[in-house]
Amino acid sequence: MPEFDLLIKGGTVATAADTFSADVAIKDGRIAALGHDLGSGSREIDAGGMLLLPGGIDAHCHIEQESSTKIMTADDFYSGSVSAAFGGNTTIVPFAAQHRGQSLRDVVDTAHGRAGPKCVIDYAFHLIVSDPTESVLGQELPALIQSGYTSFKVYLTYEMLKISDRQMLDVLSLARNHGAMTMVHAENDDVISWISERLLTRGYTEPKFHAVSHAQIAESEASRRAIDLARLVDAKLLIVHVSAPEAAQAILNARNNGLPIYGETCPQYLFLTAEDLDREGMEGAKFCCSPPPRDKAAQEVIWRGLTNGTFQVFSSDHAPYRFDATGKLNAGPNPTFKKIANGVPGLEVRMPLLFSEGVRKGRLNLNEFVALTSTNAAKIYGLYPQKGSIAVGGDADIGIWDPEWERTISQSMLHDNMDYTPYEGRTVTGWPRMTINRGRVVVEDDTLQVDRGSGAFIEREPAGDGTAALTAGTPLAPTGVFGADLA
Ligand code: URP
Ligand code: ZN
Ligand code: ZN
Repeated sequence: MPEFDLLIKGGTVATAADTFSADVAIKDGRIAALGHDLGSGSREIDAGGMLLLPGGIDAHCHIEQESSTKIMTADDFYSGSVSAAFGGNTTIVPFAAQHRGQSLRDVVDTAHGRAGPKCVIDYAFHLIVSDPTESVLGQELPALIQSGYTSFKVYLTYEMLKISDRQMLDVLSLARNHGAMTMVHAENDDVISWISERLLTRGYTEPKFHAVSHAQIAESEASRRAIDLARLVDAKLLIVHVSAPEAAQAILNARNNGLPIYGETCPQYLFLTAEDLDREGMEGAKFCCSPPPRDKAAQEVIWRGLTNGTFQVFSSDHAPYRFDATGKLNAGPNPTFKKIANGVPGLEVRMPLLFSEGVRKGRLNLNEFVALTSTNAAKIYGLYPQKGSIAVGGDADIGIWDPEWERTISQSMLHDNMDYTPYEGRTVTGWPRMTINRGRVVVEDDTLQVDRGSGAFIEREPAGDGTAALTAGTPLAPTGVFGADLA
């Protein structure tokens, strides 16, 4: 009788810390042993020449979510999770999004109702808080944090989502007191609307003006402000989808001063530029996201930020809107840049793009790749050590990567419900041949191997556990207000 359910033999294991050759033995969904001559498995996989990497954790993706303008994403939890699995992910953390007037508990229940019957890999939810009323701040949010929803996103822009600086302080101080992580979409709404109005009145309506209106200064000002508000109340803060060099610099400065500030960036800021928004006709709409892609020089700064301590998390910000009336063109075939649905897809290609252009081209090493795509998200969002590594006792979430597999990305090979990919025609080298989640082979031979709804909801620990080691530098003298007991 074999001792293990699954034995993966002959591969090279990489974690955020080490790279070593080992067989991986799996029992009851967990890693039971690492080493050589471990015994036998009911199933044995020859992983010679392959890399065994922790399953990806995409900690920023919008799936089966209505936007604030009531547009539904193209992916539901089935197509979204299948697409994620084919790209080497074993956990996704999408959003349970509150729109104004909604109860947070209701949006969480809705998200569960949508994900449970469909998700094929493991999942958790961040909250989106757009309406921090007294009852949200006083009851709902503390109770949800207590139940394991230990991170939430707030917006400083978008008419129907943005919160004021005063509300931001309320939210940050609540997060601090209850051990949650605040994520912020940092763009200055007034700057964007001031530029937009002037562009539109002068007849500048094409998609490329989206990038002009979302000026870099709008992003860097809001990022610095958000960091300062977090400093004031001694709160942790993670700035999502960073594209502007000055915003990246602000995060790095804060971290070098020992503050618990974290940064996230995404493929679109490494591989796309504002010039993509200037394609023929409405084609540029396919590349409209917020913040927008910048220029080549900004791309280089963002690449450097992946290894110089600026960014801990590399997520897709998968926000799938088709190039039709259900999505990008919901306001008609020729909308102004203000009416184009914001967001780009990227769940399936996030890791292959970074592996190919990052690891293979020597910009980051394998351990940095693992940290950015899996381990750090697990630590920051309270999933570690169950998720985010290949270690005895942890969930058997593993991507079996073929580092030599050359593929040319095209929409037809992807598994999301989109009708385009911004990365069409780009050739990458390195892609997972198999994706294993809690010991279940989810993808093999380019085929899905599991049933709808077989993923599991993962309850999380308070956010920030295990993140101390991620914060560089020596803490500043306390700068906050809590010494005066204003909590
Ligand atoms: O343009 C983007 N990023 N759309 C998705 C929503 C968000 O703000 O992350
Ligand atoms: Zn955002
Ligand atoms: Zn997003």
